[in-house]
Amino acid sequence: MDEKHRNIHNQAVEPTDLKSDKNLERLKKKTSADFAKYFEQTYMPPNLKEARRRRKNTTQYVDDFGIPEDIQNIGAGRKFLIRTYGCQMNEHDTEVMAGIFEELGYEATEHEEEADVILLNTCAIRENAENKVFGEIGHLKPLKQEKPDLIVGVCGCMAQEEAVVNRILQKHQHVDLIFGTHNIHRLPQLLKEAMFSKEMVMEVWSKEGDVIENLPKARKGNIRAWVNIMYGCDKFCTYCIVPYTRGKERSRQPAEVIHEVRDLARRGYKEITLLGQNVNAYGKDLEGNPYRLSHLMDEIRKIDIPRVRFTTSHPWDFTDDLIEVLAKGGNLVEHIHLPVQSGNNAILKIMGRNYTRESYLELFHKLKKAIPHASFTTDIIVGYPNETEEQFQETLSLVEECEFDGAYTFIYSPRPGTPAARMEDNVSMDVKKERLQRLNTVVNHFMAESNQKMLDEVVDVLVEGVSKKNDEVLSGHTRTNKVVNFKGPKSLIGKLVQVRITGAKTWSLDGELLKEVEAMVQ
Ligand code: SAH
Ligand code: SF4
Ligand code: F3S
Repeated sequence: MDEKHRNIHNQAVEPTDLKSDKNLERLKKKTSADFAKYFEQTYMPPNLKEARRRRKNTTQYVDDFGIPEDIQNIGAGRKFLIRTYGCQMNEHDTEVMAGIFEELGYEATEHEEEADVILLNTCAIRENAENKVFGEIGHLKPLKQEKPDLIVGVCGCMAQEEAVVNRILQKHQHVDLIFGTHNIHRLPQLLKEAMFSKEMVMEVWSKEGDVIENLPKARKGNIRAWVNIMYGCDKFCTYCIVPYTRGKERSRQPAEVIHEVRDLARRGYKEITLLGQNVNAYGKDLEGNPYRLSHLMDEIRKIDIPRVRFTTSHPWDFTDDLIEVLAKGGNLVEHIHLPVQSGNNAILKIMGRNYTRESYLELFHKLKKAIPHASFTTDIIVGYPNETEEQFQETLSLVEECEFDGAYTFIYSPRPGTPAARMEDNVSMDVKKERLQRLNTVVNHFMAESNQKMLDEVVDVLVEGVSKKNDEVLSGHTRTNKVVNFKGPKSLIGKLVQVRITGAKTWSLDGELLKEVEAMVQ
């Protein structure tokens, strides 16, 4: 580790005391040797046993986010750029950070050369996601050398990983700021530190029990919006890093969510997506309160917003109550993303998914019956340690049985510190790649087939913008989340229209515009 003096903040800083920087002053005086000790003593690398204990901690709801007087307007005349590498949750965090930047007086830019602050909002889910970020960190070095006042920051899920932070400290000293997923609300203070101290500032809390309510948000677009309903994950699938990078499951209070959705409806948003790593575990941590996702969606159903989606649901928590509410339709659209990961029971068991092939299929068919015309998508991992050809074929046969409308497919990527990463693996990378290809062929076949079946159907499309390939063509999604491209005037952007499907491709549909539809909430 270098001899550069660093500012170190750790979870000893009381998260609920957002405006007090007393500890910070104390920690500032630390040296890199202290830092190594701090890391040993306070940083919580992935540890299943330790992490499981956290379920007992209660969630603290905090709404005293504020910008201290001496920081107000530090962004005047300055620009920020945030690059986002992860899931919807990560994208939404970017919107929150953009909101904070704007409150500080910063202006957004898309151009690195113009930026005074560049933040990389990272994802740790697979090794290739991490490699992309390290590539970008390296790429920013010459710019930082040219512009020493530029602040380069790394945040998001990778910042929660000890090995990543160590690698940055050792090899990428042009990084000025590192902060974790539980420290987003501290961005104003951290920016100030990074601006004035010219030393690397780092703040990563393992403390994870807070829900901070009054953070600003600069949403991307004014048609569709993300609404976080819960944070963290307590499922601990054996391959997955998320429970360690995002902390324990904690639900927002129903009233807060409803308030946010009403506000979005009032502001003219046409679609919301309720977000959570395990969105259907919503409410399980609200002590003494039987309120669950089914209740929340039943309330949101009555709000005047045309489309409501939710992601990601885990088969574990998919209750009959929830199915009943979804079947009521209205603004609850008929698309269900239900990750299966594998079609083989032995693999599902060592993944810790807590369902079997049979129980997944039972749930799948129950949903199909309750919500006719629903589309189904899934996530699948191939090449889990020691996965046999026969086991893989069971995944293929499950895909054949479910005829998914789409699937995100991945080669298993060992995540340091997770239980699966300690398993020996006798499957070569070539075999894994070949399995991925075979799986994708089957997935694409059913995707194309389900699109073919829609030919001549008349569907409602929310017009979201112009097509990526041709700006004379409008593009949007059906209620079932399929992309439809069709010709029409740009004035329709943000509106719901009826379209007849005239062509089917693997990834999208073509259509002809029939007419605009009035918002049709029950
Ligand atoms: N909470 C969601 C998934 C979030 S991560 C759920 O449980 O369904 C999104 C997807 O990434 C997962 O569904 C899984 O398919 C994939 N994934 C997670 N960890 C992975 C790993 N170590 N290697 C490969 N794929 C992984
Ligand atoms: Fe990861 Fe999803 Fe499993 Fe949670 S439920 S551990 S986020 S794969
Ligand atoms: Fe990636 Fe973190 Fe999301 S690891 S998938 S950004 S929760």
